[in-house]
Amino acid sequence: MTRRLRYLVLHGPNLNLLGTREPEVYGRVTLADVDESIRGLAVALEIDVECHQSNHEGGLIDLMHRASGHVDGCILNAGAYTHTSIALHDCIKAMPYPVVEVHLSNIHARESFRHVSRLGPAVRASVAGFGWRSYTAALRALVEHAREGAAPG
Ligand code: DQA
Repeated sequence: MTRRLRYLVLHGPNLNLLGTREPEVYGRVTLADVDESIRGLAVALEIDVECHQSNHEGGLIDLMHRASGHVDGCILNAGAYTHTSIALHDCIKAMPYPVVEVHLSNIHARESFRHVSRLGPAVRASVAGFGWRSYTAALRALVEHAREGAAPG
């Protein structure tokens, strides 16, 4: 019997405010709605997911360290730390599992300070601009990748 795949989903700073925070940019869905969609997909894909939110750079890093050896990948929306955090870049590089960077908004179509991602060179892939579907698109792709790796073709 094959082992169930496990994934960590991390939401960074200010994402706890989804639903009321700049709804013209991020929409009206709440973080609980996003997590519910992710959990629904996890049931359909027969995988396990754990979702966490932290407003702290070190908190996100601790969660990624703790997951090492226990997960097959991570979906990370690092919020504004995306554009500043070399510590998160280094953390991603140090992890044995693939990390996919996600954003609700298309960061490249916004202010110029959002055009650079410090995480981009360290992650497996990036998905931005699909709203909450950025998370589910990323998770689906990670799982398909893992399953293809396990049984090529
Ligand atoms: C974000 C984009 C970031 O630039 C911003 O700081 C966020 C949210 C997104 O999901 O679109 O907090 O990561």
